[in-house]
Amino acid sequence: MLFFCIEFCSLRDAKPKRHDYFLINPKSHHFKMFNSPQELTAFVLKQMERTEDARTREIFTQLVTHLHAFIKASKLTEAEFHMACTLIAKLGQQSNPSHNEVTLMAGSLGVSALVCLQNNGQGGTQPTTANLMGPFWRDDSPITPSGGSLLRSKTEGERVWVNAFVKDFNAKPIADARVDVWHSSNEGLYENQDTKQAEMNLRGRFITDENGHFQFETIKPSGYPIPINGLVGDLLKQLGRHNMRPAHLHFLVFKDGLKTQFSQVYSNDDPYLETDVQFGVTHALVGQYVRHLNEPFPTDQVKGDWWSLDFTFKVEPGHSYLPKPPITQKRSTP
Ligand SMILES: [Fe+2]
Repeated sequence: MLFFCIEFCSLRDAKPKRHDYFLINPKSHHFKMFNSPQELTAFVLKQMERTEDARTREIFTQLVTHLHAFIKASKLTEAEFHMACTLIAKLGQQSNPSHNEVTLMAGSLGVSALVCLQNNGQGGTQPTTANLMGPFWRDDSPITPSGGSLLRSKTEGERVWVNAFVKDFNAKPIADARVDVWHSSNEGLYENQDTKQAEMNLRGRFITDENGHFQFETIKPSGYPIPINGLVGDLLKQLGRHNMRPAHLHFLVFKDGLKTQFSQVYSNDDPYLETDVQFGVTHALVGQYVRHLNEPFPTDQVKGDWWSLDFTFKVEPGHSYLPKPPITQKRSTP
């Protein structure tokens, strides 16, 4: 009996002469010659029908359909294809435990925002407070009582009092939800990028009360540039785009039975609000900072200028999970 064999180099096997084989009966392989681009696409799609897992089959059928359509519509040349293979390989080579160039590229092409919008807000039909996870979430932020401070070392910046609520789409408060908060300094650096900040500075973990409420003190964050020393930088330069993100606070809302929500609340006064390089800003995510002049700050009687921010997160039923943090190491250089 003849078998049609697919040969591949095993990445797990360091021995150069060893080859592994998938053995497939040719009679069940729908093999046929093809003579044109159209016949090739149809043939490849036919092979997808072999896939046992229904979701995997759906994803790869759609991928082949649209990838082939893109190649035809863009009239991709062989030289351009070879360049694309090199660039995709480089995305991986430029990623490491403290930096993920693949995620950065996905954000810069609007892919991350699209995935978020179509999977939240009741299937993309309603405005949502869900947003991009970003690369700097840590799973071990310090537990902080409501009304506490995120400042864990001397931190320059304008004082902010944040009043936040977690509710469902019917405005019912969500009690006992875990909410992680993290954000950059007024220089646009997260604590794990900045040797001047204490471990866990500008990070905290709260539990909502019976009104779905939690509050805290922090400082007004700054926007920041995304790294441009890799392929994403090359792309942005070619496309004539800047590399700035508007100032924002990050949140994670987690509770059993609720769809885990990553969120970012953007500063209404940021000049890059409408041109975020990662396409993260929607109307529902613009936080309205209110300035207070010579009023006592909520946790002390010291008068002076400060800001307040009120915001309500809307969560919905769904899969509650905690993903693997995107990076696992501090940067060794600022
Ligand atoms: Fe961020």
